[in-house]
Amino acid sequence: MDLTGKNVIYEGGFGGIGQCCLREFLERGVKSLVIFDLQENANILQELTSSYPEAQIYFVPFDITDKNSITEAFKKAVEKIGHFDVLVNGCGLMDDTKVELMININLMGLIHSTLTALPYMDKSNGGRGGLIINISSVAGLEPTAVVAVYSAAKHGVTAFTRAMASPHYYKHFGVSFITICPGITDTNLVANPHEKATFKFAEALGARLATAERQSPEVCAQNLVKLAETGKNGGVYMLDLGEIKEMTFPTMWAPLFNP
Ligand SMILES: NC(=O)c1ccc[n+]([C@@H]2O[C@H](COP(=O)([O-])OP(=O)(O)OC[C@H]3O[C@@H](n4cnc5c(N)ncnc54)[C@H](O)[C@@H]3O)[C@@H](O)[C@H]2O)c1
Repeated sequence: MDLTGKNVIYEGGFGGIGQCCLREFLERGVKSLVIFDLQENANILQELTSSYPEAQIYFVPFDITDKNSITEAFKKAVEKIGHFDVLVNGCGLMDDTKVELMININLMGLIHSTLTALPYMDKSNGGRGGLIINISSVAGLEPTAVVAVYSAAKHGVTAFTRAMASPHYYKHFGVSFITICPGITDTNLVANPHEKATFKFAEALGARLATAERQSPEVCAQNLVKLAETGKNGGVYMLDLGEIKEMTFPTMWAPLFNP
């Protein structure tokens, strides 16, 4: 999608990867950018507003674990910008000591956000269609023992997003879906991983993860926004150590229909 003049909603926009993506979207000449997040980051907002005076930039507070808060946030966004072309679901938490909260943020909230956004975008009902980018993880591709619950949530994100990219749905809604699977990226999310392991006795696995090679959030954001321009509906992309790799999946099952 050519991003020039487009309206973008970014959930989790003040996070490490999110704030770099905001700049990349603004560099592409988007018309409006609405940032959904738990709390305002006045410094980033101020910096973006003065660096990109021609863009309309808004912040809408929301808590992705609260369905009403999601509904209200989309209402407010649409009141401000009229319609949106791109939604990025980029909130996240990696902490296996908080099972319910983590599933609620990473998976449940992302599903509710997607289902709340769709009626606004729905081409079959007067909307303009568009693109939804869901941020999964390499832990949503490979079972990741050290954070088994996070890995489960992210596998859910990958499966949900691939399912939403069904041609049947695309024909109806006119909305493309892309799954982004970053590798380890230098943000708060991966700080002190030993404290976030599924089991205390396995903390050493977490500590080991802290020594693995990682990419910068800037590089991850450049590639994510590149894929907003060039990615295809249903594409699942691993963004690791500065590279983009499209993932392929074998068909493991298909229903057998009676003639
Ligand atoms: N950093 C990595 O190594 C890495 C790797 C793979 C995937 N990811 C994914 O990338 C995305 C961005 O992560 P990041 O590394 O920038 O992390 P981050 O911790 O810097 O940012 C997470 C963002 O989510 C927001 N958030 C958390 N809980 C929320 C809630 N209840 N309601 C609303 N917003 C909430 C935070 O305020 C923050 O802005 C996440 O989905 C994460 O799982 C990150």
